[in-house]
This record gives sequence, structure tokens and C-alpha cells, in this order.
Amino acid sequence: MSKDIWRKIEEIGIIPVVVLNDAKDAKDLGKALMEGGLPAAEVTFRTEAAEESIKILSENYPDMLVGAGTVLTTEQADRAVKAGAKFIVAPGFDPELVKYCQSKDIPVCPGIQSPSEITGAIKLGLDHVKFFPAENSGGLKMINAMGAAFVNMKFMPTGGINASNVTEYLKSPKIFCCGGSWMVKKDMIAEGRFDEIKDLVKEAAEIVRSARN
Ligand code: 3PG
Repeated sequence: MSKDIWRKIEEIGIIPVVVLNDAKDAKDLGKALMEGGLPAAEVTFRTEAAEESIKILSENYPDMLVGAGTVLTTEQADRAVKAGAKFIVAPGFDPELVKYCQSKDIPVCPGIQSPSEITGAIKLGLDHVKFFPAENSGGLKMINAMGAAFVNMKFMPTGGINASNVTEYLKSPKIFCCGGSWMVKKDMIAEGRFDEIKDLVKEAAEIVRSARN
């Protein structure tokens, strides 16, 4: 199951990292993501609205790959999956959370920032991890250096990525996708600027296409 999910995420190329303060915005946001050409979202458990937003996105857009981000506890993982999340992303590496997700057959992508954490992830059988916070932790150079040692590991860099630096990340064979919030900023959502979001999503989808050609 995990393999299929990471393959689909790789095809999409960029996962919008979303913070929704109000679940009422989820439907419009989903429309902008679908029409813009990035049919995926990592809805972060940083707000009370996360669970309901995941539910709304999953129900209204069955073709969208909806996951939960900033998952810190097994209880949040359960709530996310119950709401319809197809994958779990965590900012850090918590073996307990990873093992819990594995025991329930939930695809999980924990955050790592060092060779030791990658070693821990490999020990648990993972081959896809999030690299967070990417730009502050050495960016692409760090991924390439760590990737040279951990040859089977694929990374999802997130944190500080935007339209101007995402191409270089996408071109790396070590990277299966990039995460970012630049096209779905909190204030744009709160102010209902969904046309703007759609345009930025379109631009991001176009960047994926040209980076891979
Ligand atoms: C994350 O949760 O992965 C990051 O906060 C997203 O980082 P960005 O806002 O710098 O894109």
C-alpha cells in the first residue's frame, strides 16, 4: 500500500502543505488544487480544523490524494485516517508513531534531518522520508551528501521551498517529491483568494512538468 502512495505522490511531484484555520475553506481550496493540477494535499494537524478539512476534501474530491501532516501522536494518526487521510507525514522521527502506522498499514513518512535518523528509519523498513526543514538544514547539498551513503532512500524536502528553488530539488533522483506551502499560504486561504491559489498551483504543476523533461 505504501509503495502505491509514494509512487502517486512522486507522479504529482509537489505536495501542497496546507494549514486550514476554518474547515469551511476546504472545499474551495480543494477545487483550486484540482483545477490547478496538483491533486494532493498534506493537511497539517496544526489547527483544530485539520480533521474536518481532511473529511471534506476526501469526500468532495475522491481523486485527490489527501494526507495528514504535522502528525505528532498515534491518536492524531487515527483521527486523520478516520477522516479519510491516505498517508501520514510527521515533522520528526518518532519510531513509536512509525511502528504504530505500520501496524495499521498506514503509509507514513517521518521527518529526518541527519544520518542517524535515516539509519533509524531504515531499521523500521522505510525507504521514503521527509527532509525537514530542508532549506535550513543544508538543502539539496545535504540531501545529495546523505543520499550518497543511503542509496535506497528517497526524500521529500519541505521547508523553505518555493517556485524559485523547487526545480533544482525536483531534478534530483534522490527526491520523490517536494512539499511546500507557497501556493496555499494561510492568508490567501483565509482571504478567499482561491483564483490566486489556483494560478500558483498551475505554475507549480508546470514547474514539475518542465523539471522532469
Ligand atoms: C512543513 O510543515 O512541512 C513546512 O512548514 C512547510 O514549509 P514551508 O511553509 O516553508 O513551505
